Amino acid sequence: MSALAAPWPAAAADPQRGRRLAFEPMTDADLAAVCEVEKTAYAHPWSRRHFADSLASGYPAVMLLAEPLPGEVPNPPRADGRVLLGYLVAMPGVEEVHLLNITVAPAQQRQGWGRFLLDALVLWSRGQGAQWLWLEVRAGNEPARALYTRYGFQQVGLRRAYYPAGGLQREDAVVMSLDLAVPSAGAES
Ligand SMILES: CC(C)(COP(=O)(O)OP(=O)(O)OC[C@H]1O[C@@H](n2cnc3c(N)ncnc32)[C@H](O)[C@@H]1OP(=O)(O)O)[C@@H](O)C(=O)NCCC(=O)NCCS
Repeated sequence: MSALAAPWPAAAADPQRGRRLAFEPMTDADLAAVCEVEKTAYAHPWSRRHFADSLASGYPAVMLLAEPLPGEVPNPPRADGRVLLGYLVAMPGVEEVHLLNITVAPAQQRQGWGRFLLDALVLWSRGQGAQWLWLEVRAGNEPARALYTRYGFQQVGLRRAYYPAGGLQREDAVVMSLDLAVPSAGAES
């Protein structure tokens, strides 16, 4: 599978507010803003190096950008004045795609953007001929587990003490997958 051939939807309309949205590839120039969001969204954020390595590996990485709403001040600021709603990074494999990072900026959460990003990833993955989407999620990450479960992902495993959790603590990873061959996979349940 080639990340370069990735057919991400280039633009869309905000289903609730009608403003223009765009999926754009993440580049090194975006990493300062992405890392700013990342630090506010996680207790254990990815470092700039994580993102840079993913980009250098050619992994698909996209940002979801929006025109600001009236009175909205983009935070972090962007030269083009748009708002960074969220982003995702994935790793293509043989007939599968592994979701490595999906993040919605804290001020934008619970407005459907996580689901919107997953919809785009499902479309992209099917376009690459993938049959499965895989991910790991911290056992204690209730919002993310709720998103994935509601979306149709099934728990298929548990990796004990997979994630660092501060000091000497570790946290389990729940392994989840979505069968893309099921036509309704990703449809709202
Ligand atoms: C997980 C995350 C991506 C969800 O994004 P989001 O845009 O807030 O999610 P959505 O608004 O699309 O929510 C879709 C559904 O997921 C579930 N959900 C999302 N956030 C939830 C929360 N805080 N509590 C309970 N359920 C939640 C709900 O079922 C929700 O549907 P509803 O709003 O109609 O009830 C976001 O919380 C986030 O970026 N968290 C920090 C980073 C992170 O943990 N990423 C995942 C790493 S594995």
